[in-house]
Amino acid sequence: MGYVMETYSRLPVSLVKGSGCRVWDDTGREYLDMVAGIAVCNLGHCHSKVARALKDQADELFHCSNLYRIPKQEVLARMISENSFPAQVFFCNSGAEANEGAIKLVRRYCNTISKRGPKIITLSGSFHGRTLATLTATGQDKVKEGFDPLPAGFLSVPFGDIDAVAEAIDDSVGAVMVEPIQGEGGVRIPPAGYLRKLRKLCDESGLLLVIDEVQTGMARTGELFGYMHEDIVPDAITLAKALGNGFPMGALVARPDIAEAFAPGSHASTFGGNPLAVAASLATFSVMVEEDVPKMSRETGAYLQAEIEEIKRLHPSIKEIRGKGLLIGIEFDADISSLPKDGLAKGALLNVVQKNVLRLVPPLVISKGECDEAVSIIDSLLKEKGL
Ligand SMILES: Cc1ncc(COP(=O)(O)O)c(C=O)c1O
Repeated sequence: MGYVMETYSRLPVSLVKGSGCRVWDDTGREYLDMVAGIAVCNLGHCHSKVARALKDQADELFHCSNLYRIPKQEVLARMISENSFPAQVFFCNSGAEANEGAIKLVRRYCNTISKRGPKIITLSGSFHGRTLATLTATGQDKVKEGFDPLPAGFLSVPFGDIDAVAEAIDDSVGAVMVEPIQGEGGVRIPPAGYLRKLRKLCDESGLLLVIDEVQTGMARTGELFGYMHEDIVPDAITLAKALGNGFPMGALVARPDIAEAFAPGSHASTFGGNPLAVAASLATFSVMVEEDVPKMSRETGAYLQAEIEEIKRLHPSIKEIRGKGLLIGIEFDADISSLPKDGLAKGALLNVVQKNVLRLVPPLVISKGECDEAVSIIDSLLKEKGL
């Protein structure tokens, strides 16, 4: 028996060091990282500016409570708002917490300001986290098994079907919460125009549109945030994963007139946005904007997708290649759950979702040469497995 709870089936490798798109295990073996801690280390491992910011902050102050002003938090909140939409920000520590905060904010807003019912519509196949409310919001039964009783207040409608959302709306509903691309669900992209239609529907019915950008945010899909592909303005977005480039950090970003529903005492987090976390995130966000990382993601993503298209004809089990920026899914008509383990033997970290989709989410700083290397490893793995 190990001392760590077995909530993950872990691969037999211990990673101890990282730099850019490379990681090393405890025997010194090098791997090309096509996972980036699941869309977390978007600027690459141990990015010098983020590491510097953390080291400098560690010499000054690790933590102080949100009972006091935290100046870098104010700078970061402003930077997020100026690069998204006029908003106020609540800082927390993870994606589930950011979404939990969004759910609470929707409820407070509906119960105290808009007087609409506080139910939230979410989509089949979605993933919003592992707290009780966020797993209930999640559109996948497997994450709910054995956790009854689940909280009330969520309605699930089929993915990508705008008419189904329209039909589900009545006075009891106050918001719709969606991912621009379903990452955990298998890199599923809704039909073009879906978010725009959703925005229109929410405007007509007085609903809030909450966009879960935990995985799609921070340049992952080739825009700073995934919703930007459709030129809409959300009412709230949630962030985590790449916000701290590996330092745990989450954020709920909401229109100020909605954020107003929270008063001192209605929501809180001991660690949320502490000095170390905001130092890491401020450095990360600054690099994203100053170095136009979304463009990098767009261009390299297009290159990588085209390279994968090239090998598709050699592998009849590949059904579809899809993605935006560097959130790419290769769907197979076979169970490919063993690929991550086989990938280790070839020197690559690979990730599979829903048993049949190879999800490529490397650091956004990956070079074209490294993309070629990844495609060649995938090609040879598929050949060996007869896929
Ligand atoms: C879209 C989305 N929302 C929420 C979460 C939950 O984030 P966390 O694991 O940081 O709680 C995830 C994690 O994969 C996610 O992809």
